[in-house]
Amino acid sequence: MSRKKIIAGNWKMNGGLAANQALVTALKAAGDLPADVAVCVPYPYLAQAQQLLQGSAIALGAQNVSEQTAGAFTGEVSGEMLREFGCTYAIVGHSERRTLYGETDAQIARKCVRAQQAGLVPILCIGETLAEREANRTETVVAEQLDAVLSATGIAAFANIVIAYEPVWAIGTGKTATPQQAQDVHAFIRQRLAAQDANIAAQVRIQYGGSMKPGNAKELMAMPDIDGGLIGGASLVAEDFLAICKAA
Ligand code: 13P
Repeated sequence: MSRKKIIAGNWKMNGGLAANQALVTALKAAGDLPADVAVCVPYPYLAQAQQLLQGSAIALGAQNVSEQTAGAFTGEVSGEMLREFGCTYAIVGHSERRTLYGETDAQIARKCVRAQQAGLVPILCIGETLAEREANRTETVVAEQLDAVLSATGIAAFANIVIAYEPVWAIGTGKTATPQQAQDVHAFIRQRLAAQDANIAAQVRIQYGGSMKPGNAKELMAMPDIDGGLIGGASLVAEDFLAICKAA
């Protein structure tokens, strides 16, 4: 089964009108890229990015989405709102949301359900902390995070979910998982899905995230179960992000 690689930039809380314009213009100017490519921008810049991306194959995504539909939920943004601004994807359950904002597995599962109901493709982030890895709990943690979503959505929903395996200890630290370390967890994730539906497991795209850079992207994406990347820091530099897209 050949899966098209998918590279998504997670700008996190970075950017500004001028910087975004320069970055997106440079990405567009690169023309055709050999992967599915998306940029996940802060909410206030969705409209700007939607306009800038017109006529481009680069898709738009948000970095979060509410588990609610509408109503008295101050500060929340619904999936329908994201669709109105041209979003294809929404990152769900990024480790920064889990650790800094207390998002739980159950809440993240509800966000995946709502995102799909709104017509978005969730980019579901899962991954262990350094303490969990050192305690040999990587598979347990990743399985719990995955199972919470599986039990809420069912396996069929994974035909329209992208998974991002992001070991927390590799995020923004410059410490990348080795290709083999990442591959082992990616294969574990795919096997867990295959236990429920082998076809869906074979189709689902599993990105690696955590200090992916032009210098390591190729060897990571050469691994059989690594289907792309979710890129933080390097997605803010057009040259680096494009180099990663071209490595796909
Ligand atoms: P870095 O690429 O900056 O390590 O961030 C990874 C990440 O968290 C993407 O979601």
